[in-house]
Amino acid sequence: MEHFRYENNELYCEEVSLAELAEEFGTPLYVYSKNRIIDSYRSLQEGSPGKSVNICYALKANANVGILKVLVAEGSGADVASGGELSLALRGGFSPSKIVFTGVGKREDEIAFALKEKIYCLYAESLQELQLISRIAHALGITARVGLRVNPHVDAESHPYITTGLNHHKFGIESGKIIEAFQYAASLPSLEVVGLHTHIGSQILKLEPYRATARYLASLVEQLRETQIRISHVDVGGGFGVPYDHVVHHEGLGREDRPNNSAPAASEFIATLLPILEPSGCTVWIEPGRSIVANAGVLLTRVLYTKENRKKKFVVVDAGMNDLIRPTLYDAYHQIVPLKIDTYEQEIVDVVGPVCETGDFLARDRSMLKTKQNDLLAVMSTGAYGFVSSSNYNGRLRPAEIMVSHDKVRVIRQRETFEDLI
Ligand code: LLP
Repeated sequence: MEHFRYENNELYCEEVSLAELAEEFGTPLYVYSKNRIIDSYRSLQEGSPGKSVNICYALKANANVGILKVLVAEGSGADVASGGELSLALRGGFSPSKIVFTGVGKREDEIAFALKEKIYCLYAESLQELQLISRIAHALGITARVGLRVNPHVDAESHPYITTGLNHHKFGIESGKIIEAFQYAASLPSLEVVGLHTHIGSQILKLEPYRATARYLASLVEQLRETQIRISHVDVGGGFGVPYDHVVHHEGLGREDRPNNSAPAASEFIATLLPILEPSGCTVWIEPGRSIVANAGVLLTRVLYTKENRKKKFVVVDAGMNDLIRPTLYDAYHQIVPLKIDTYEQEIVDVVGPVCETGDFLARDRSMLKTKQNDLLAVMSTGAYGFVSSSNYNGRLRPAEIMVSHDKVRVIRQRETFEDLI
């Protein structure tokens, strides 16, 4: 059963009416389906029947501790990108032995924190970072497990801001220098080199970039072996794309004229990677974020006003770019639907927020069902990079977050108050 669906013209999350949630908890409001998160997590394993990939959920997609606990119960590991995310991962209950630390600019205090907590490994992205990890580990009298992130120069063909695997990007160590970097790491005191890491981008909708990356990584493992460097795991990063259009259906919604953005199933990404990487003898790790949570979340918002001028019709809602930055930053598309359908009449509108910037929009020139003042809307597929990227810009309070499981409703983050702004 779909976790977000219309019943009698009313949108539900699992067994709970979203309109009732909006009335009870106010808007803007993030709502997540617990069982959708679980299903998405499990579907990653379906690409590898009988075999397994080691999943380290990327906290940057959604780090609400209530969600982290669901993934811990599923047996997930964690990919953290800062000391703050590491503290959230520990608070969520992830075993340190299942945590990896990624990122191009780790600070000394963050490295020390990770080493003291005995996380599984840190992925270094430069020789200077390797040196620093070695120095801190030595001072602490411990051996630090490290992996090296390689930049494979593979085009993920995603939005330029979230494509990370090309030579002009800041990420990783370039392929021409990676063997040397491994040798350097092996020569440093207090380091144990355990893995090879990469991440080519996010919202990737094709299998081919993964095929090319996996082939490159497999050949790199071979080359490393020839230089007597043996690693035990290869981490391919995250990036598996998800569908953003037509995620919820109703005959009244009509079909928007959208380019073909269909995404392979999560299991297809895994099924592409495993056969190429497994013969290397290394275990295969992944760091999915979006594919686990994006379509498990919605942002509910209320129509404050509707107005039109000679050029455009505007639907002014109470959620803005501070609550959901994706449309502004990446021109990202999110389906926007009414919580109650009472007309099939369509109109073309800009859905805009209250923030004092022209870039504050959730949709532009969007054909959608006609709305009126006080209507409630759902911005779909906002479980990933939604709340985590929100801010207090314009003195706006960040929304509450709610988790739904069957007919149970739990507040997993309180709405901010004016006190939080001080
Ligand atoms: N691993 C690393 C090292 C990463 O940098 C990322 C995402 C992931 C894993 C998880 O990727 P995912 O499976 O979620 O695609 N704010 C942007 C997305 C930024 C992605 C940053 N890195 C957006 O809203 O689309």
